[in-house]
Amino acid sequence: MHPDIESVLCSREQIDQRIQEMAKEISAISTEQPLIVVGVLKGAFLFMADLVRNLTIPLEMDFIATSSYGASTKSSGVVQILKDLERPIEGRDVLLVEDIVDSGLTLSYLRDSLLRRGAKSVRIASAFDKPSGRTVEITPDFAGFTVPGHFLVGYGLDYAERYRELPYVGVLKPSIYAGAQD
Ligand code: PRP
Ligand code: MN
Ligand code: MG
Repeated sequence: MHPDIESVLCSREQIDQRIQEMAKEISAISTEQPLIVVGVLKGAFLFMADLVRNLTIPLEMDFIATSSYGASTKSSGVVQILKDLERPIEGRDVLLVEDIVDSGLTLSYLRDSLLRRGAKSVRIASAFDKPSGRTVEITPDFAGFTVPGHFLVGYGLDYAERYRELPYVGVLKPSIYAGAQD
């Protein structure tokens, strides 16, 4: 285990197993045109890669990049789009793929924005769901694991851009971010 990690919350094997179950559920979605699967960068890159390899329905992929945490463990409350979609989504069914829903700000902002652009439907698949962090009401249509309120890293989740590469999700030792809050 990485020395900055206090404990592992979801192992690589547990994540793999759960993604296969989620992919089955998601593959039951029926759409007229291919589903547009949108990965929310950067956090979603590993989950996106693992999920799409297990989906069995026609799909297209696009990516959008947002940032609201920066180098803090608390959301700034402002969602910035750093890179937008490359293709129009008007009249299309969209699946937003996220690593985690915490305050809910990122996904509620993105969902509203895609609906405003004329998406026919916007569903949400998140590898992790932290309901205790919510400040806006939003529930992912597909959620891998419900997780407790600790600050988590790994499997795409970062603290100040670090730890995304860990193949598991773990609790970061508070000593790593103590004194660096906000
Ligand atoms: C993190 C995470 C989600 C979002 C969840 O992204 O990847 O996108 O925050 O938090 P919320 O529900 O409180 O909005 P971040 O802004 O850190 O950008 P990143 O994906 O590049 O790490
Ligand atoms: Mn993110
Ligand atoms: Mg982040």
